[in-house]
Amino acid sequence: MSQNTYKNPMLKEGSLKDKVIVITGGGTGLGKAMGKYFVELGADLVIASRKLDVLKKTAEELSKEIGGNILPVECDVTDYAQVENLLKTSVDKFGKVDVLVNNAAGNFISPTERLSHRAFDIIVNIVLKGTYNCTLAFGKNWIEKKQNATVLNIVTTYAWTGSAYVVPSACAKAGVLALTRSLAVEWAKYGIRFNAIAPGPFPTKGAWERLLPGDLKEKFDLAKKVPLKRVGEHQELANLAAYLVSDYSAYINGEVITIDGGEWLKGAGQFNMLEMVPDSLWDMIEQMVRKTKGN
Ligand code: HXC
Ligand code: NAP
Repeated sequence: MSQNTYKNPMLKEGSLKDKVIVITGGGTGLGKAMGKYFVELGADLVIASRKLDVLKKTAEELSKEIGGNILPVECDVTDYAQVENLLKTSVDKFGKVDVLVNNAAGNFISPTERLSHRAFDIIVNIVLKGTYNCTLAFGKNWIEKKQNATVLNIVTTYAWTGSAYVVPSACAKAGVLALTRSLAVEWAKYGIRFNAIAPGPFPTKGAWERLLPGDLKEKFDLAKKVPLKRVGEHQELANLAAYLVSDYSAYINGEVITIDGGEWLKGAGQFNMLEMVPDSLWDMIEQMVRKTKGN
């Protein structure tokens, strides 16, 4: 196996044929990367966000490159009426929706005491309210039509660890994770699966400009925090997402899959810092520890 296999598409051709997939925040970054691969696998795609010009440009670019049916729909996920319109427009165009990917997000770094309540609101509204708005509108429709469906929520690893300096995002992503696990159980009886992906660092313009502005990129090289010593490739996230929204993952429900090269665990393990001890010191350390025998 080549070392770069993870950069290649993974699923069989046609794996998402006949599926209609809606991705919020699908015009940029990871949403765009997932959407591209879903269309390559045969899905019809709806991409939704606030900036119609960005969505149209992405749809044109992808259609030119790979063909397929891609519908851009302007939708602010914080507004329930716009979410209902997204559902209606998608169903009018494609007859149904099979998969919802709650990917839209907002975030920026800041000491929490510098935030106004409006700054807190804007992030929580996009991430948590946006996710439950879409989930509720699409879910009610699936239940009414007795249609099987899948929801994929994009969270982060600090959804369960928390993180300083991105507190509104951490609170909101924790809520999205709770929603994922709760509805995986409650709506399984309707044939609706819920899963989440927790990505580690995957460079995108949107995230990097707001989380690593200016020379912070160089100062805090995120690859160095990852045991595998690299950041993520968009295709490897798209591979995982495609599997989770496909019928190949039919028995996976309520799971959050971390794709971060071991980043969060490296921060968590109490003695992980011992990787800084050079090999040459381990003989001496072992002797010191062994000397304690019987003490
Ligand atoms: C403190 C700030 C601020 C800052 C805005 N505010 N930026 N406060 N520090 N840096 C405050 C404003 O003063 C205002 O409060 C309130 O927030 C709302 O401001 P707006 O001007 O309305 O918001 P705006 O700055 O235009 O937009 C913020 C945003 C925008 C909505 C979050 O950046 C956006 O559209 N983002 C979408 C894309 C995105 O964020 N992508 C990154 C996802 S990355 P007052 O009180 O003054 O009215 C991600 C990855 C996680 O989630 C993990 C990575 C490893
Ligand atoms: P991104 O390109 O900035 O994507 C965010 C998207 O959300 C944009 O397309 C934006 O489009 C859309 N959006 C924001 N507010 C919205 C609203 N109110 N209504 C509808 N759409 C809205 O950043 P990204 O890095 O690809 O992030 C994608 C997802 O991955 C997010 O959930 C993020 O938390 C998660 N994630 C990313 C990383 C990473 O390293 N990149 C790591 C962990 C998790 P408009 O501006 O047009 O609305």
